[in-house]
Amino acid sequence: MNTIIEKLLNDQVKFEAQASMQYLAMASWADANGFNGVADFFYNQSEEERVHMLKLVKFINERSGNVAIPALEKPKESYSGIIELFEKFLQSEIFVTEQINHVIFESLQNKEYSIHNFMQWYVSEQLEEEALARTLLDKLNIIGNDKSGHYLFDRDVNAIAAANSKE
Ligand code: FEO
Repeated sequence: MNTIIEKLLNDQVKFEAQASMQYLAMASWADANGFNGVADFFYNQSEEERVHMLKLVKFINERSGNVAIPALEKPKESYSGIIELFEKFLQSEIFVTEQINHVIFESLQNKEYSIHNFMQWYVSEQLEEEALARTLLDKLNIIGNDKSGHYLFDRDVNAIAAANSKE
């Protein structure tokens, strides 16, 4: 495997793993602060990111590359409220999308078309996740700091989490 691409795919393993642990920390914060719907939503998101990470690990191995399982930074674990959680969610997804775009750009530069092809699945995932993060943050920004609004948001997000976990 091309060493530039191998390094980029390994970096992507780390970004997906980091997102998974970040969402786990966010789920745990929400769980401890009475937002059970938001907690379930982020437990699911954490699981999804782990799946994204595993898919990369398996792909690198299938292509006879070397996987370096990374050390991770400690995720942020304390939040001012659920608006901050969803701001962090959107930020994280935008960051991951930028990194995926970078892998795709380099795949084309290096004429690694099968990598380019493999990464298209991530492009679709990112489109969905960024759109979801934006929609939820927009809703929260409309609600503002209204406590009863947050209660209803938590209940609605619970339904999204339940639907996602059935997929
Ligand atoms: Fe796999 Fe949403 O980054």
